[in-house]
Amino acid sequence: MIFSKPIFTSLSPNTEKDDIILAFKLIFQPWKWKKGDSIQKLEKEFRSYLGVNNVFVFNSGRSALLAILDSLGIVEGDEVLLQGFTCNAAINPILKSGAKPVFVDIDDTLNLDPNDLKKKITSNSKAVMIQHSFGWPAQIDEIVKIVKENNLFLIEDCAHALGSRYKEKLCGTFGDTAFFSFGRDKILSSVFGGLAVTNNHELGKKIVVFRERIKYPCNSWILQQLLHPLLTNYIVMPAYALSAVLGRLVLGFLHILSILSKAVYKKEKRGKSVKQFPKQFPNALAVLALNQFEKLERFNKHRREIAAFYQKGIKKDNFILPLDKEKIIVDPVFMRYPVLTDLDTDEILKKARKRKIFLDDGWRKSPVVPIDTCLEKMNYKLGSCPRAEKISQSIINLPTHINISQKDAKKVINLVNEYTRDKR
Ligand SMILES: Cc1ncc(COP(=O)(O)O)c(C=O)c1O
Repeated sequence: MIFSKPIFTSLSPNTEKDDIILAFKLIFQPWKWKKGDSIQKLEKEFRSYLGVNNVFVFNSGRSALLAILDSLGIVEGDEVLLQGFTCNAAINPILKSGAKPVFVDIDDTLNLDPNDLKKKITSNSKAVMIQHSFGWPAQIDEIVKIVKENNLFLIEDCAHALGSRYKEKLCGTFGDTAFFSFGRDKILSSVFGGLAVTNNHELGKKIVVFRERIKYPCNSWILQQLLHPLLTNYIVMPAYALSAVLGRLVLGFLHILSILSKAVYKKEKRGKSVKQFPKQFPNALAVLALNQFEKLERFNKHRREIAAFYQKGIKKDNFILPLDKEKIIVDPVFMRYPVLTDLDTDEILKKARKRKIFLDDGWRKSPVVPIDTCLEKMNYKLGSCPRAEKISQSIINLPTHINISQKDAKKVINLVNEYTRDKR
């Protein structure tokens, strides 16, 4: 029992053997690290998959967002509206552009609430950014109407929503522009990576100019990312399988020595820029992203099946399942399957850890995640999005990635079903 396979939401959750072997081989092929034809191949695949004219890869979603804000001409004094319950990586580019992030509360699918959006628009508003949280599309028709009436730009943050559809159309094709992420625990992963897309040629030209001005990341940064699939799968996870304390120690040690990267840098939690962004997408990570892209349909089919399994198995008198809704006009990908509870989520996560189920994906306990982000530096005022604040306290996100079998999902279901509302 000591060596039972741990269940993870984070680390390198999407990686399969071929991804690990590919990353391992690339470590010994440094001539392929920066420039190479995989960058153009990846952009071509995405142009065809999304049916958009302009696709530009970057070393992260946040770099792509910086390029988008620059190309839209967003400057100091402008306001960009986005939902509460978001990641600081989506806010920092707005701060860097000089604009003010304005937070809008969320609806019952954890997405931007059009009614609160109307209340928060001012004469300084320039753009609205919608998130499609955990892969469930936002109320696009309502939001597009408000955006048009107020002559604003619409940016889609598709970091969670690669493959999600709204009225049979892919997310990322509704706004003036959109960005995607290939972060370590996203739908597809190359540890870091992302892309900006638009059908507007003028905007596309400006993004090209922005990208020509920025450099490739340094070799040590690229190497750090190539080591991630290997070390998380063969060192960190086995350490967690022995004991959670050992796992944390090993992971912490690899972070301290900068052998492994963190998803968000310390300075970013205080609204500061870091030298790692914006940067061009290195070819080596494009090779990893391309390999994952070939598996997109299988990955998303699996995510939907695991989500349906949770939906069926979790006792609804104990937990609220915010995405247990009819999917008449949406086809979500379920990057995670969120559940809400008024029970103590810290206690549930602690009990889960004892069973080697690691459910903390960082999306909890704060309207701007991760939890130790400085809200003041993000321009977030407590009380401004009451629903986002409440949900952030009561959410647990269940994993749906390709390495979660139905047996694993059953273990997760059994764990949460042991909690009942009267067990306080
Ligand atoms: C909702 C959301 N937007 C934007 C980002 C930024 O993406 P990236 O990590 O690729 O910069 C993330 C992830 O960090 C995210 O979760």
